[in-house]
Amino acid sequence: MSTANVAATPFEGFVLGIETSCDDTACAVLDAEGRVLSSVVSSQLDVHRPFGGVVPEAASREHLRNWPAVSAAALEEAGVDWSDIGAVAATRGPGLVGSLLVGLSLGKAISYSLGVPFLAVHHLEGHLFSPLLQTGGASRSVPESMVGLVVSGGHTSLLAVDGPSGAVTSLAETRDDAIGEAFDKIGHRVGLPFPAGAEVDRLAELGDPAAQPFRVARIKSDELAFSYSGLKSQALRALGEIEAGNGGAAGASAAAGDDGSWPRDVLDLLAGFRRAAVAQLIDRLDRLSDERPVERLSVSGGVAANRLLRREVALWGERRGADVLLVPLRYCGDNAAMIAHAGLLRLRRGDTDDPRSADAESRIPFAG
Ligand code: KG4
Ligand code: ZN
Repeated sequence: MSTANVAATPFEGFVLGIETSCDDTACAVLDAEGRVLSSVVSSQLDVHRPFGGVVPEAASREHLRNWPAVSAAALEEAGVDWSDIGAVAATRGPGLVGSLLVGLSLGKAISYSLGVPFLAVHHLEGHLFSPLLQTGGASRSVPESMVGLVVSGGHTSLLAVDGPSGAVTSLAETRDDAIGEAFDKIGHRVGLPFPAGAEVDRLAELGDPAAQPFRVARIKSDELAFSYSGLKSQALRALGEIEAGNGGAAGASAAAGDDGSWPRDVLDLLAGFRRAAVAQLIDRLDRLSDERPVERLSVSGGVAANRLLRREVALWGERRGADVLLVPLRYCGDNAAMIAHAGLLRLRRGDTDDPRSADAESRIPFAG
């Protein structure tokens, strides 16, 4: 594999990562080689679940409440003290601004008080480079050229990383819903608890996608752009028809955990939905590689845990002769190891932020 190490400034310490952009309070410690020494994620799902989504005000309070225990656990697991921390990286956006402010402010204060460099990291930057993280080893070097597919509850983005400085440009975005959002809505409709993506994926394995096929959405004016609202509406409509035919809720009665009690047509529908959702990603990758060579593809974000997607991108890589870097399952969802890692990459380039002025922003573009 031809890769270029972008290291410019030697860095010898430990990097503390902080991620609080939504409802996970996360803290991680990486060493200077990008080895993950600890990655602690505290989920707030029990607080938000009764509301069917994340309640922003409650999320900020929970981050504040969780931080002391989460950070203490991350340091203890890594076997380091505060005085060993040589740099601090925290997510600055996008996300819920109240949640972001908690982690970013903590990061700024820690970096300022320790007198160490600070890095305000874009959440997508964290996901994009997370496939370079390895379980138990130093992180891989940033390839000279890489395409990144980031699929999560908030993003469906195709990005290009080029050159030794790792300049990132945006190739495509979703025009409407993010792919994870569509999984969550379909899951909610059949009575699964939020966020439903992982459970929809598991149940889809039990269905026959050919029994409930959906078309792959395309946008004529921008052939690489993604769109998930049409597929979501079609799937919701089909669920309504199944309900009308079955004379009741599509899946609520089965949501208690007994797989055998799910109606076959609902399982088929989930499988058909998942197949079309993943096929759209593969379609865009095909279109892109028809236009420009894609030597290396990184796939990351919460939806990168999807079983079908993991199988399909691996096959795509074989078909197209591309090296596919799939994020390890433990770093798919939001975590602070990916933030510390993105911070470390920037630190090596000497590209740091002023802890006195870095600000949180709910919506910020990442790439040009
Ligand atoms: O990256 P992430 O933790 O948070 C965001 O930045 O959005 O992604 C969370 C999203 C949720 O929509 C969740 O339902 C979805 O990832 N997700 C999945 C799977 N596991 C998590 N979607 C499909 N298949 C999965 N296995
Ligand atoms: Zn995320």
